[in-house]
Amino acid sequence: MQTYAIILAAGQGTRMKSKLYKVLHPVCGKPMVKHVLEQTEALQAHPIVTIVGCGAEQVKDALGTRSLFVLQENQLGTAHAVLQAEEVLGCLEGITFVVCGDTPLITSETMSKLRDLHIRNQAKATVLTAIAKDPTGYGRVIRTQEGLVKKIVEHKDANSEERAIREINTGIYCFDNQLLFKYLKSVKNENTQGEYYLPDVIELMKADQLPIAAYIAEDFYETLGVNDRIALSKAEQIMQARILHRHMHNGVTIINPQQTVIGADVSIGEDTVIQPGCVLTGQTEIGKDCVIGPNTEIVDCKIGSYSVIKHSACYDSKVGEQVQIGPFAHLRPKSILADTIKIGNFVEIKASSLEYGSKVSHLSYIGDSEIGKNVNIGCGSITVNYDGKNKFKTVVQDNVFIGCNSNLIAPVTIGEGAFVAAGTTVTSDVPEKSLTIARIPQVDKPGYMK
Ligand code: UD1
Ligand code: CA
Repeated sequence: MQTYAIILAAGQGTRMKSKLYKVLHPVCGKPMVKHVLEQTEALQAHPIVTIVGCGAEQVKDALGTRSLFVLQENQLGTAHAVLQAEEVLGCLEGITFVVCGDTPLITSETMSKLRDLHIRNQAKATVLTAIAKDPTGYGRVIRTQEGLVKKIVEHKDANSEERAIREINTGIYCFDNQLLFKYLKSVKNENTQGEYYLPDVIELMKADQLPIAAYIAEDFYETLGVNDRIALSKAEQIMQARILHRHMHNGVTIINPQQTVIGADVSIGEDTVIQPGCVLTGQTEIGKDCVIGPNTEIVDCKIGSYSVIKHSACYDSKVGEQVQIGPFAHLRPKSILADTIKIGNFVEIKASSLEYGSKVSHLSYIGDSEIGKNVNIGCGSITVNYDGKNKFKTVVQDNVFIGCNSNLIAPVTIGEGAFVAAGTTVTSDVPEKSLTIARIPQVDKPGYMK
């Protein structure tokens, strides 16, 4: 049977006390609603319709073309939100998942089990429930004496007897698509919050003797609804543990998981060791047999196999195989290091490429440069790329030796195989294979200090 999905993401999220719309708060570096979308995609649900309202443009940007969008102009409640999808899904036959954009830990496995039960029971609505230690804030599942789901009562509307119930509504459901839209129209907003509640559809269907089912999630935390920053931190902690376990299952050694942060989209090859104090985020890819850390931040980088990066910060850069970086190096965006490069302590590289076998071992700044093969940049040498207004390029061709404490004033080219003597300030192009020296000759005055 055809499956569709509706993701609710129109609310402001007042309890977050944030200028960022709730469903865009990241968990392990990815907006909550994007986690939900990805799990929903895995169910082969099509189309997926996301209901947007507060922060509509930002939510659309975060999800891109992976979802259709329908605007809910005023946030009148979850039933009203789902009803907005009628123009897209209204007349279709099939099963519709409804899922909240603020339950980032939900997995496609659990949603798939929910759908299996829905089909097996020939239900018209099946709600995913969970048993909460502390059900405060959630809707409670009210069952009949026979144990069948009768209705859902919101926390704010519940009496003390209902509040004592620990089975909660996770906000995730399967519905018969056509009946969903039919019953949504009968939902009223006569409750404490004056909102149209989606769970009221269950009671209305039940009253018409339609078969309703419930699937109890095995793990409450998978259904955690993030309404405030405390739940956000809990979600982060659980998602982080999941990510670290996935890498460890894949053959990555993580020395101290409590001191390691790895984003949801990071990939790491087998036998790589992650030392304590690493934060690896964004679209980062790390090869196999690397040693990363201790204390290293890597954001949006591709790191080749057999490389070692210690106590360093690397952003939006590409690093080859068998590269050594650090301790205390800084790769700024658009740095491209070929295989076997060595970047030592207190070296900053920015928007520069270095080819095979080159070394910048100590205390250098290389910016807006093209460095060829087997170049040695001596300690303390820098490219002078900025005149206060514009940036200029430095080219250092293959097999060049730059002596210590040289300044290469850009724009400038150092020809193939040249040797720049220590302390030289290079102001014009250096011919290939030459020795270039520009410094005041030393004067010794014997006995002067007596
Ligand atoms: C909802 C459920 C509650 C359940 C809980 C699970 C209702 C009435 N209550 O409560 O039974 O236990 O989720 O986490 O459904 N939204 C819209 N438009 C609106 C209102 C909300 O798109 O007009 C979106 C929000 O952005 C959010 C989701 O729907 O992603 C849920 O809304 P929220 O206000 O967080 O509902 P809860 O109070 O958590
Ligand atoms: Ca919620």
